Amino acid sequence: MLKLEHLTKSYAKSAVKAVDDLSLELRPGEIFGFLGPNGAGKTTTIKAITGILQYEAGNVSICGYDLKSDPIEAKRNIGYVSDSHVLYDKLTGREYVDFMADIYGVSVSERKERADRLLERFELKDAFDSPIKTYSHGMKQKINIIGALIHNPNLWILDEPMTGLDPQSAYQLKELMRAHCDAGKTVFFSTHVLEVAEKICDRVGIIVKGKLILVGSLEEIKAAQGDDSLEEVFLSVAGGAHA
Ligand SMILES: Nc1ncnc2c1ncn2[C@@H]1O[C@H](COP(=O)(O)OP(=O)(O)OP(=O)(O)O)[C@@H](O)[C@H]1O
Ligand SMILES: [Mg+2]
Repeated sequence: MLKLEHLTKSYAKSAVKAVDDLSLELRPGEIFGFLGPNGAGKTTTIKAITGILQYEAGNVSICGYDLKSDPIEAKRNIGYVSDSHVLYDKLTGREYVDFMADIYGVSVSERKERADRLLERFELKDAFDSPIKTYSHGMKQKINIIGALIHNPNLWILDEPMTGLDPQSAYQLKELMRAHCDAGKTVFFSTHVLEVAEKICDRVGIIVKGKLILVGSLEEIKAAQGDDSLEEVFLSVAGGAHA
């Protein structure tokens, strides 16, 4: 579904590698939590996978398509929710979702069925015809999510998606992520909310200073570290006071 081989990315003018020789393979039907302290390289990894940032070494393959040699086919399989809402502010929610559906070639009947279902879930129906610039932070996040799901992508990537969502919407998002995996697709998301990761992830990975230092199911990594909770594992491998 997603295969990263020795992915390496440095920013210009920086001697340190933001992502350093990162290899990871995600399977169909799994939900994978990408954890790590601020500045660890999560967003950089995600931006490399989605084709937003160039990387200097390694390979990224999505559903068997190499991102560098077959970028359009690779990206066709991705739905991406970024950590910042760089949306087209002047468009209404409906125009934005239509725009995304047009890009991915989603039929009118399919987009209507999916949008209706998601708008209902996120209680965003009443604002669908208002300009995005009038949306609150959480509403922008929701329209971002709807736009990312409109083509029912095989690989759904989200960068800190819980930020700014109210409890009902966060719950709905978790349900959607689970349903996506249950349909045989894959979810890859970064988060600082360890309770969420603990609750919904099949596997997690912890990145520190650009290096993926731990990957496995929660049971595996807790057992390997001799810790009782994901928080303890995180603190012991990512630094900080470990009780
Ligand atoms: N545009 C940029 N130019 C230069 N350096 C950058 C840029 N964006 C990120 N970095 C650096 O790359 C490293 C990784 O940053 P990144 O944003 O990927 O971390 P992150 O794990 O997403 O952190 P956070 O949890 O705070 O979102 C950091 O050292 C950061 O300073
Ligand atoms: Mg980030």
